[in-house]
Amino acid sequence: MTTQHDPIDPVAPEGVDLERPNVARVYDWFLGGSANWAIDREFGSQVLKQFPEVKTFARVGRDFLGRGVGYLARQGITQFLDIGSGVPTVGNVHQIASAINPDSRVVYVDIEPVAVAHSQLLLEREGLLGRHAVLQGDVRDPADIWKRALETGVIDPRQPIGLVLVGLLYFLGPDEPVYEMVQRYLDFLPSGSYFLSSHLTEDGVTRKEGDNRENVQELYKKTSAPFHLRSRAEFTAFFDGLELVEPGIDWMATWHLDEADSRASDRFADDPTFTGGLGGLGRKP
Ligand SMILES: C[S@@+](CC[C@H](N)C(=O)[O-])C[C@H]1O[C@@H](n2cnc3c(N)ncnc32)[C@H](O)[C@@H]1O
Repeated sequence: MTTQHDPIDPVAPEGVDLERPNVARVYDWFLGGSANWAIDREFGSQVLKQFPEVKTFARVGRDFLGRGVGYLARQGITQFLDIGSGVPTVGNVHQIASAINPDSRVVYVDIEPVAVAHSQLLLEREGLLGRHAVLQGDVRDPADIWKRALETGVIDPRQPIGLVLVGLLYFLGPDEPVYEMVQRYLDFLPSGSYFLSSHLTEDGVTRKEGDNRENVQELYKKTSAPFHLRSRAEFTAFFDGLELVEPGIDWMATWHLDEADSRASDRFADDPTFTGGLGGLGRKP
């Protein structure tokens, strides 16, 4: 793999590491965005060879996020803390929430400078900075993220909050205190708040020809953030102490399809297990 820059690539903003493919930028490429560099696209093409459905999978994840936020907005949740928010592409949390409750407020957090810079730019362009905010931070530090999220003034800690950790927890390995970390965030939230999350799994997944997903996991070891699969039971344990919204932990491709159309998910209607993506939403009593 080369670190040569493609002539069509923009100059990388400060702090952007072009030595390794970056998971936020690769995901952006899967979704058809432009916040990626040659090294990310080369890597994404290697993944595509091992797992030709990967772009549709990314779309399924994004659609799940949108349906979860739409559901929450309809329950009257008007403030969101979206961690691991990624490069904004289509259907961003503030857009979905505001379409339902125009006074919605969102704090975005991501570890990757390009994701933060693009979110900042989008909010500036839409004239929404102030009502929404973006922070660079590591989800592994709940106290720091919570403190800085409140300092933005965007979130009122006395009112229910939608905590969104979608497409994120699998970047934290088995040796990290991931359950304690999620619990810290849940402890901060007032009663009536919700936790929306998703995870990759091998549990109950059917395999089709040309599906070499274990090679994808191997490839990701070269990136900024290798990923780790969890079983359905391990994912469910993140929701301990919460009331799971029906239908409970489900395949992302089928969770609350009533919320919005999802052409990507429809592709997997005959076998949603194939996506290997689980999703769930829990309410803090
Ligand atoms: C697969 S993308 C998901 C983006 C978005 N949540 C979605 O579902 O469309 C994962 C995002 O998590 C971010 N991320 C990875 N590790 C992180 C960490 N330790 N703290 C904060 N963000 C992280 C990556 O930079 C990337 O933007």
